[in-house]
Amino acid sequence: MSRDQVMSGGSVTSAEDAGDRGVSFSRLHQAGSVDVTHGRILYLEGVSVSFDGFKAINNLSIDIAPGELRCIIGPNGAGKTTMMDIITGKTRPDSGQVYFGSTIDLLRYSEPQIASMGIGRKFQKPTVFEQLSVFENLELALAMDKRVRRSLWGKLTSEHLDRLEQVLNTIGLIGLAHQPSGTLSHGQKQWLEIGMLLAQDPKLLLLDEPVAGMTDEETAKTAELFLTLKGKHSLMVVEHDMHFVRAISEKVTVLHEGSVLAEGTLDQVQADERVIEVYLGR
Ligand SMILES: Nc1ncnc2c1ncn2[C@@H]1O[C@H](COP(=O)(O)OP(=O)(O)O)[C@@H](O)[C@H]1O
Ligand SMILES: [Mg+2]
Repeated sequence: MSRDQVMSGGSVTSAEDAGDRGVSFSRLHQAGSVDVTHGRILYLEGVSVSFDGFKAINNLSIDIAPGELRCIIGPNGAGKTTMMDIITGKTRPDSGQVYFGSTIDLLRYSEPQIASMGIGRKFQKPTVFEQLSVFENLELALAMDKRVRRSLWGKLTSEHLDRLEQVLNTIGLIGLAHQPSGTLSHGQKQWLEIGMLLAQDPKLLLLDEPVAGMTDEETAKTAELFLTLKGKHSLMVVEHDMHFVRAISEKVTVLHEGSVLAEGTLDQVQADERVIEVYLGR
C-alpha cells in the first residue's frame, strides 16, 4: 500500500472527521502551549464518577509535574483505567476538575480534541495496522496529527522524515522499518504503538499496562525506553509488574476504590500498612 493510498484511506478520513473542533479550540490549539508555570501538567481535583450507583472514582485528586514519569499501581478494579478514560475525555466525571496545565479545562473538550492537544494514550492491547510496514504505521500516525496534516500535501517534509527516523531510533525498530508490522513480536508491536504516539510529539503520555505479556528482555528494554522519554514528555504509567515499576519509578501513586491510598517512592508505599492490607487482603 502506498503512502497516498494510506493517506486517503476511508478509515483515516473518518478518524479525522471525528474531531469536530469548535472555534475556541482552534485558537487554543494554534497557541499550542500548555501553561505549566504552576509546576503541573495534569491536575485532577475531587473527581468522582459512578456506574449504576457504584463509585468507580471517588473524590480523586492527583497531579503530575512536567517531565515526570509517574507510576500508578493498585489492585484490579481500583479505577486506574477509568481515571485514564476521564483524562482523555472518554468518560465524563459526575463531579470534580480535570486540568491540562493550569488553564485548559479538559472537561470542556471531546476525546479527539484532547488527543490533538497533546495527550497520547496507549491502551493495553497493541492496535497497529498489521499489513502496513513499521514506517507506514508511523507515517499514518503523523498524518493523523492535525498540525502536520495542514502542511502536508501528499509528501513528507524532511523535517517530518527526520522526526520519524528519530522515533524509529527511540523505539529501537530502525532496522525493521520496512517490515510488515504483523510480523513483529508482541513487545515490538507495543513499541511501535508507543512510536505512533511519539510521532505526534505528545506532551503527556498515558500508558495502561504497557509491559503486560512481554518477555523479561522486552520488559527491560521498555524500562530503558521510558527512562529516555521522561523529561521530554510527561508520563503516567499504570503497571502491575513491580520489577518494571522499580526500574522506572520515582513517585508512585497507589489507587484503591477510586481514590489515592498512598503516594511516595516504591519502597515507601510498599512499606505502608494500608497498601499491604489492600494487596494482601484482610
Ligand atoms: N463503563 C463502565 N460501566 C460500568 N462499570 C465500569 C465501567 N468502567 C469501569 N467500571 C467499573 O469500575 C471499576 C474500576 O474499573 P477500572 O477503572 O477498569 O479498574 P482498574 O483499571 O484499576 O482495574 C470496576 O469495578 C469496573 O467494573
Ligand atoms: Mg485497568
